[in-house]
Amino acid sequence: MNPLAEATRNKLMLGLFLPIQSGGWSPSSTPRGTDWSFDYNAALTKRCEALGFDLVFGQAQWLGAQGYGGKTNYRSQSLDAFIVAAGLCAITRRIIIISTLHILYGPLHPLHVAKFGATLDHMAKGRWGLNVVTGFAPDEFTMFGMDPIEHDQRYRMAAEFTDALDALWHAKSDITREGIGWKLKDAYAGPKPANGRPIMVSAASSPAGLDYAGKYADLVFITSPAGAEIDAALGALPEHNAKVKGFAAKHRRKVKTIINPLIICRETEKEARQVYDRIVAGEDTTAVDKLFGRFQSANADSWKGHARGQRVAGGNIQIIGSPQQVAEQCLKLQQAGCDGIQMCFFDFAPELEFFGQRVLPLLKQAGLRAPEDQPPQRASA
Ligand SMILES: Cc1cc2nc3c(=O)[nH]c(=O)nc-3n(C[C@H](O)[C@H](O)[C@H](O)COP(=O)(O)O)c2cc1C
Repeated sequence: MNPLAEATRNKLMLGLFLPIQSGGWSPSSTPRGTDWSFDYNAALTKRCEALGFDLVFGQAQWLGAQGYGGKTNYRSQSLDAFIVAAGLCAITRRIIIISTLHILYGPLHPLHVAKFGATLDHMAKGRWGLNVVTGFAPDEFTMFGMDPIEHDQRYRMAAEFTDALDALWHAKSDITREGIGWKLKDAYAGPKPANGRPIMVSAASSPAGLDYAGKYADLVFITSPAGAEIDAALGALPEHNAKVKGFAAKHRRKVKTIINPLIICRETEKEARQVYDRIVAGEDTTAVDKLFGRFQSANADSWKGHARGQRVAGGNIQIIGSPQQVAEQCLKLQQAGCDGIQMCFFDFAPELEFFGQRVLPLLKQAGLRAPEDQPPQRASA
């Protein structure tokens, strides 16, 4: 069975949003073990695979020397998600590895991405996914010596680029074609991806972006239109999921949606809330200001509805409580039309472990995870 078909046997796919950038998702100086290094993220990925998670995923971001600054120099270090994926593909056997790539910066050439991607997919034996992003932060374009590109034009260019990737991944002979900023002349990319093409992913939320996602993506990383608070998010998500899937239906396709909760789970809700309060008390004020500022100036709506404290703790939505409460909220997310969650934690390693031991069995009991009757071995790592 191909990896995506296997993952979607689960009513709720489980993924981890890897902390490949310093500070993870939380601009807070409260102590924790979370680390951006490859070894730390490799260990998390292996643990996710052992727990039966479906995917891991890394983000791509370009920041100046101090990152978001502040006393933590939030996100001043960030590994490249595309290159990290190569390392992770080689040390895992079953889990899907998704990397984010800004396809318009440089500009990158579709022949490069087709070849690099097919190589990754070959290493992963069909488990590699490409999250195509077009760059929402104007200062990232200027880092590459480019002028920022108008929002909807970015998605037109992304569509052209993705068509070229598809053509290269399927062509049996040399191809010639042209797009804005690139040309292919008698070009060819081999080997081909294991399943025709890699798992295509989009994290768009605008009409132009969702139209792109509906046409090309298999998975869409969605955001809550009602901010991070879980009950508000749950109220808005049924309509939002239907809207995202509606864009795919217009292209006679289907997409699966995945949302990003920060999970703080302890034996009791009281303990979990105390942890939340401690994270927020450690707020790195300067970094949060800069983070806020960047999102306000950004050409993106997805993360704008968050209160300050929610930004400090992180996650697009937040689930805080006992194992029973966390499992119940996961069930409600599935009932609200989400096909998966790609979670993040404050202190990743111990909190992933706690989730695996205390929440995962409850998700299985609730029928959110497929019975483990399929042989998990796929690649010979
Ligand atoms: C879960 C998630 C992960 C994202 N990861 C990245 C990323 O790594 N790099 C990036 O530049 N944008 C990232 N984005 C931003 C999106 O690519 C997109 O710009 C944003 O959601 C706004 O949507 P729009 O482009 O349709 O306006 C992410 C968005 C979401 C929801």
